Amino acid sequence: MEKKKNERTFFIESFGCQMNDRDSEIMAQLLSDSYKPSLTVNDADIVLVNTCSIRQKAEQKAMSLLGTLKIIKKNKPGMVIAVVGCVAQQEGKKLLARLPYVDLVLGTQNIYKLPLFLNDITANHKRISAVEQTAAFTIPPYLPDVDKGQAHKRFVTIMQGCNNYCTYCVVPYTRGREISRNFTDIIAEVEHLTRHGVKEITLLGQNVNSFGRDIENNETNFSKLLRATAAIKGLKRLRFTTSNPKDLNDELIQCFADIDILCPHFHLPVQSGSNIVLKRMNRKYTIERYLDLVNRLRIARPDIAITTDIIVGFPGESTEDFQATMDLVDNVRYHGAYSFKYSDRPQAKSVAFDGKLSEEVKGERLATLQAKINQIVMERNQEFIGKIEEVMVEGQSRTHTGQWSGRTGSNHIVNFTAEKSLKPGRIINIEINEACQHSLRGLAK
Ligand code: 5AD
Ligand code: SF4
Repeated sequence: MEKKKNERTFFIESFGCQMNDRDSEIMAQLLSDSYKPSLTVNDADIVLVNTCSIRQKAEQKAMSLLGTLKIIKKNKPGMVIAVVGCVAQQEGKKLLARLPYVDLVLGTQNIYKLPLFLNDITANHKRISAVEQTAAFTIPPYLPDVDKGQAHKRFVTIMQGCNNYCTYCVVPYTRGREISRNFTDIIAEVEHLTRHGVKEITLLGQNVNSFGRDIENNETNFSKLLRATAAIKGLKRLRFTTSNPKDLNDELIQCFADIDILCPHFHLPVQSGSNIVLKRMNRKYTIERYLDLVNRLRIARPDIAITTDIIVGFPGESTEDFQATMDLVDNVRYHGAYSFKYSDRPQAKSVAFDGKLSEEVKGERLATLQAKINQIVMERNQEFIGKIEEVMVEGQSRTHTGQWSGRTGSNHIVNFTAEKSLKPGRIINIEINEACQHSLRGLAK
């Protein structure tokens, strides 16, 4: 017998960045009016795969889950499978042709119409691809469900898309042109969250520094938004991601000196230590300028932890270019760094560049770089020993039974012992007494 609509269940698997996580939250909220959440993929009547396309590996992960879903669907012919997000945007209708068991391909600007499409699919047995992108798109004012998800910290989208066209990057194609959200909608969303007990907000966008630039007669910018958000009652911590060094200006640096609740952490992707490679990547800054920004951030906020992203093996990267990246890491001494082997992405300009490196060379360079990063990160973590840090409680530690876990303003995970039960979102002083590769340990003071 066919299930009634409100007995049908959904499951969302989310790959990729926090923008995707936030989109998945929004889709869950849209669906929960009519469907129930399912705890596992196997039991779900509707499965959404929110995909990432930033690197080849990310795309492969989503494709592999879709392969599993194909097998599950053989015994559950009524199951609806939707591919959402960046791979959906990139491939569009082609996915419907390639994957006959997929019912819906939903692009990054179309997630708000999800319930309409699902109705159409079930009522009319249709297969739908909806990947239109328009410059007129606006991110709807949207008040998050406060009963679901993490209660003490939340993400708030402030803009989406990117106009930078770094030559390796798929984002301008998957997320479209930069579109800022309405200033008052953002503030209303943060106020709504803090009224319901949220203590930490991360403002999200692929390129937050350009906030407001696409708005006609615009009088606002990212620094003004940060200051207005920080003034909201009840908010204890404010973060943001991601920022391109080319647009990092004095006004934003000054925010780190002035705004107490702005956390002392800056993720500043450098991508390469070589000016020649940066030019071919179309990053529009030099290493000299990057180092100057790092320096000025550290003057404005001496305890700031700077983290980064690095690509190794970009087409044409010589041994000297790679050495320049190693030297940069030695110079900046990052508190954390994500590093990746370059991979060709559809539509990215670098696909056509000469001088592609073998997987073997890229693998060797990545291993050499990661060994250096690990060593420096460990040394950086050791610098915390003996210090008293303000830690926001996240909950009981998942890795250390009987312990609690939280984060410093610098975004370091701290596992600690405390005598009493602690509510997530509370800030307590912890004396750090041990440093590990990926976390710190300490005692409640
Ligand atoms: N190959 C490898 N890494 C990439 N990134 C983006 N595009 C590529 C690519 N084609 C990395 C960058 C970026 C991070 C999110 O992913 O370092 O900052
Ligand atoms: Fe991945 Fe970029 Fe899409 Fe985020 S925006 S899911 S990082 S491709």
